Amino acid sequence: MLLGVNIDHVATLRQARYATMLQAHNTEPDIVTAAQAALAGGADSITLHVREDRRHMQDADAFAVKKQIPLPLNLEMGATPAMLEFALKLRPDYVCLVPERREEITTEGGLDVAGNQEMLRPLVAALMENGSKVSMFIDPEESQVRASAAIGAPMIELHTGCFANTLGDARAKETARLAAAAALAHSLGTEVHAGHGIQLGNLEDLTQVPHLTELNIGHTLICRAIFCGLEAAVREMKTAINRLNW
Ligand code: PXP
Repeated sequence: MLLGVNIDHVATLRQARYATMLQAHNTEPDIVTAAQAALAGGADSITLHVREDRRHMQDADAFAVKKQIPLPLNLEMGATPAMLEFALKLRPDYVCLVPERREEITTEGGLDVAGNQEMLRPLVAALMENGSKVSMFIDPEESQVRASAAIGAPMIELHTGCFANTLGDARAKETARLAAAAALAHSLGTEVHAGHGIQLGNLEDLTQVPHLTELNIGHTLICRAIFCGLEAAVREMKTAINRLNW
């Protein structure tokens, strides 16, 4: 099981203080240093979400991480012509297409691939031709899994937010939904990742979902990093994942 580390919140913190003075000599925290810490802790890839309004990660952050960090770069982005243009220039190893609403704090639901196939198909093709492997961040629904395969996306990332935010019977139901979606995707030849709300405390339940090859984790790692540093937080997560023999 691979661990993708999402360092968006490092940019969130920087922007909280320095959004209007990014060229200043004293901006902090530094994005590349965060990616280096994730690498040192055992991250298998680095994820950045460059939003259309650039409210957290900036274009220069993505280019700096791509140039300086010897790990695959996963760019999360909205499915728009402007973001496509940016991704074609950046040429990250992976692109994960996500829904984007300006008012949300983080990505709150899956992308509606089924309802936007005509728009998404050429976008996916352009990214793939440019050398970026594309995934769709989707809710664990049959129609979304089938549509993702139909438009030529080789990977999906299943949205684990509902799974993470429930317990007991509701958690079991969400786990079953994820498992069914993952099994269907696998049968269609799609690679399956998962992300959103994954923490040390819900990793074990997630092992019931078959065919997962990568987890994308951000928020909890940055939270832990407040107390133990990012490198240690990533190492702790990687150790917990490895201990489950996934
Ligand atoms: N995957 C995707 C597509 C995301 O947008 C995010 C952030 O919302 C994550 C994974 C990581 O989620 P979290 O920060 O809750 O770990």
